[in-house]
Amino acid sequence: MTQRVAILISGGGSNMAGLARSMTGDHPARCVLVLSNVPGAGGLAKAAALGLPTATLDHKAFPDRPSFEAALHQTLTEVRPDLICLAGFMRILTPAFVGKWPGRILNIHPSLLPRYPGLHTHARALAAGDSHHGATVHEVTADLDDGPVLGQIRMPIEPGDTPDTLAARLLPLEHQLYPAVLRRIVTGQRARLDLSTEDVPR
Ligand code: GRF
Repeated sequence: MTQRVAILISGGGSNMAGLARSMTGDHPARCVLVLSNVPGAGGLAKAAALGLPTATLDHKAFPDRPSFEAALHQTLTEVRPDLICLAGFMRILTPAFVGKWPGRILNIHPSLLPRYPGLHTHARALAAGDSHHGATVHEVTADLDDGPVLGQIRMPIEPGDTPDTLAARLLPLEHQLYPAVLRRIVTGQRARLDLSTEDVPR
């Protein structure tokens, strides 16, 4: 049976577009909703251009986090998602919300978790003098950026890299990783996927 995937965004939505474009043809899942907590987020227009249903729930219009999450839960429940993919969704979800969708929320994070949960991951990798950086798709659990790793993609850090060059080089790799992991999850493969730019001869 076709699996139903909702995607939550806050920004440009390039990961959302990559996921949505992957869910066509013989793919066993379809995107049933793109929801943004930021009105006018660039990803909403991208989703509409892809013919996807969109919704906006402005967190600032709610008095507190529980009421925002109640509305989010209600909106999601209406589209009956099997999976919820966070793709640049910049709200922390409470354990109470996450507990309503156990094992069914995925996130992409721009670091090689467990290194650098939270923000400013590119700058932190540079400041630490790391040789490699990358992105992680993980299951969302009650702890921030801490759920089981489902896949990672690694790339070398080059001399002269800045947070901006790392972000720019990493984003296209995120677009490889997230659809690859999603396809595995919807076909029942939860074993971790490890990709590296160094596997491919240059
Ligand atoms: C990505 O780097 C993602 O890893 C991070 O936020 C960025 C979102 O970019 N959480 P986009 O909205 O998918 O273009």
